[in-house]
Amino acid sequence: MGFMMRKFDMYAQTTTHSVCTLGKSQGYYMNKFVNRTTSLVSAMLLILMTVFALQAQAAEKAKPKPLTAEEELKVLVKKFSKPKYSKKGADSCLKCHDQESDLDATGIFANRHGAIGDPEGPMGQLQCESCHGPLGRHDKRPRKGKVREPMIKFGENSLLPAAEQNSVCLGCHQDDHTRMGWMGSEHDANDVACVDCHKLHVEHDPIMTAETQNQQCTSCHVKQKIDMHKRSAHPLKDNRQVCTDCHNPHDSSNDASLIAVTLNDSCLGCHSEKRGPNLWEHEPVAEDCSNCHTPHGANNAMLLKRRSPQLCQECHSSVGHTSAAYVEALGNKVQGKSCLNCHNKIHGSNHPDGQLFTK
Ligand code: HEC
Ligand code: HEC
Ligand code: HEC
Ligand code: HEC
Ligand code: HEC
Ligand code: HEC
Ligand code: HEC
Ligand code: HEC
Ligand code: HEC
Ligand code: HEC
Repeated sequence: MGFMMRKFDMYAQTTTHSVCTLGKSQGYYMNKFVNRTTSLVSAMLLILMTVFALQAQAAEKAKPKPLTAEEELKVLVKKFSKPKYSKKGADSCLKCHDQESDLDATGIFANRHGAIGDPEGPMGQLQCESCHGPLGRHDKRPRKGKVREPMIKFGENSLLPAAEQNSVCLGCHQDDHTRMGWMGSEHDANDVACVDCHKLHVEHDPIMTAETQNQQCTSCHVKQKIDMHKRSAHPLKDNRQVCTDCHNPHDSSNDASLIAVTLNDSCLGCHSEKRGPNLWEHEPVAEDCSNCHTPHGANNAMLLKRRSPQLCQECHSSVGHTSAAYVEALGNKVQGKSCLNCHNKIHGSNHPDGQLFTK
């Protein structure tokens, strides 16, 4: 009973919003959805005609055949052309999608999208239909041999391309300053959907939760998953650090979608003692930390790309002082840390005699 009460209260509070913002919402993003999809649809007209012929045959059989991607898109576009929204908002959906249902939708009320009074949020607008589109005939018992009229689906179950799914989200999140960089970002360009990362019917979205984010990101980014378990690594595997400490998953205006403008700014945000200025600078340090380090993990100590002396000898000649000193004259004195036994202020020195980074 408590839950029924809450449902009722919720609708009573928001019913005015959902009615008066109906037109606005349609113009704002539902039309965008339609525009983007109509071109796709016309391109698929030929395919569809064949599909219809096949469907007519299938209709004779008793078991309803699931819609193809093209058919589903067509139905959805048609639904949006004369949208029939439900009169009771979320309450009409929860009749069938409550906690007893296999398709329980009540989790949405545990997060920001379920906030009842928020005029910017779905519950202050068309409620469930802000995301899933107009109810139309979805609540009607399907005719024999037909499937239930579909709603917009997201994620794994969806037949819609990422761009179409994302257009629903971007209807509210496009102009939001935090989302400015999405269009054309690496994730956008590679058809990653918002819901490949975000879960919306849960209290805590795993991608936005520190304990689970790294796992979520590395479900696609396997190389980084391997790296973070290497001998030397940023503390990602125990979630003391997360991918979004350095990366912005929505925006690729900086190299590698880093939050900071340059790679060095990114490192120096936490390792500020390496910033300098030093009396004696080591040129490659000021230039780019990744001359020597790799960001996620390495088999060498200290996230180094190579071990010394090879690391140093990528740039410094191995003949003359360096190789002679290393191999013969100094013997075991230079084992282990190699060149760093003597040149240990490798990031630069402030000692008056530190030009060779030995002090
Ligand atoms: C009369 C019962 C009923 C009502 C009312 C109803 N649904 Fe459904 N809905 C279902 C059933 C049953 C399914 C399972 C799919 C099927 O049978 O075709 C479903 C499937 C869905 C799906 C797809 C889930 C998936 O991933 O497969 C979404 C999304 C959905 N409904 C949203 C809504 C929304 C939003 C509303 C309200 C505007 C609503 N439904 C109202 C019965 C209903
Ligand atoms: C802000 C957008 C948004 C709103 C509002 C929203 N949904 Fe969803 N819904 C989604 C997304 C995205 C998914 C895919 C699964 C996920 O992300 O958790 C989904 C999944 C579903 C499913 C499939 C569930 C399953 O178990 O696979 C149903 C049914 C559903 N929603 C119904 C509803 C109903 C009913 C409401 C209103 C009470 C609602 N949704 C409100 C975005 C939304
Ligand atoms: C009707 C407008 C609307 C739609 C549609 C919508 N959102 Fe939101 N969303 C909001 C508002 C309002 C907030 C809360 C303020 C904010 O963080 O911007 C929010 C918050 C969020 C948050 C942050 C949640 C948190 O806990 O801080 C995420 C992530 C998000 N939305 C993703 C999505 C995705 C993905 C979709 C599409 C499936 C979507 N939204 C569709 C309005 C909307
Ligand atoms: C590659 C994974 C990924 C994709 C794809 C993605 N997001 Fe996010 N999103 C995140 C992460 C991670 C956060 C948390 C950011 C943080 O904590 O710094 C976030 C945060 C948000 C927030 C909360 C506000 C903020 O910036 O902190 C909103 C709203 C949001 N995303 C909406 C979207 C929308 C809309 C899309 C699709 C157009 C989308 N996201 C695509 C991973 C993703
Ligand atoms: C659904 C799979 C998927 C998930 C989940 C995912 N990514 Fe990606 N990501 C991609 C794809 C695809 C690319 C394109 C380049 C490639 O193939 O690596 C990409 C590219 C990137 C890049 C390179 C961007 C550039 O500008 O060069 C970064 C950084 C990145 N992702 C970070 C993240 C972070 C952080 C998360 C978690 C918040 C995440 N990704 C989650 C699929 C995913
Ligand atoms: C300490 C900062 C930091 C953290 C934490 C971090 N990254 Fe990175 N990431 C970087 C830097 C810096 C680069 C650019 C490397 C380069 O250009 O040499 C990068 C590059 C990438 C790339 C592009 C790789 C390529 O070869 O183009 C992907 C994908 C990526 N990171 C994913 C992730 C994921 C997933 C996580 C979380 C598990 C993560 N990163 C955590 C700093 C970080
Ligand atoms: C968000 C903060 C943060 C950023 C950004 C960051 N680091 Fe770190 N770094 C850490 C932490 C925390 C540790 C681990 C310290 C510990 O384990 O006690 C660490 C450790 C290291 C180590 C020592 C690794 C080892 O095996 O002991 C190196 C080298 C390093 N970082 C280099 C970099 C470089 C290069 C960048 C830029 C690509 C960078 N860091 C960016 C926080 C950061
Ligand atoms: C010329 C190669 C080189 C460059 C470039 C370089 N480092 Fe290092 N870094 C090293 C070496 C070698 C070590 C290991 C020192 C040791 O074992 O005593 C190290 C160790 C570290 C450590 C862990 C030990 C400590 O001193 O705290 C951090 C953090 C670090 N570097 C950060 C950075 C940052 C940030 C940058 C860019 C501003 C950078 N490094 C650029 C060679 C380099
Ligand atoms: C990416 C290239 C690069 C790497 C790797 C590198 N260095 Fe350098 N190093 C330079 C450059 C460039 C200079 C400046 C040369 C100059 O002024 O003649 C320099 C200067 C020096 C100097 C001062 C030389 C002088 O005459 O003033 C020493 C000592 C030195 N490096 C040691 C090392 C050691 C030890 C390593 C390995 C841990 C190392 N370097 C790795 C590029 C590099
Ligand atoms: C036992 C200490 C020691 C070790 C180990 C050592 N150096 Fe030196 N290095 C010196 C001293 C002392 C000088 C200055 C005297 C000189 O000019 O020979 C020097 C000078 C240099 C210079 C300045 C230019 C030059 O050749 O005079 C560079 C570059 C350099 N070392 C790089 C390296 C590299 C790379 C390694 C590792 C392969 C290395 N050093 C190992 C002590 C050492």
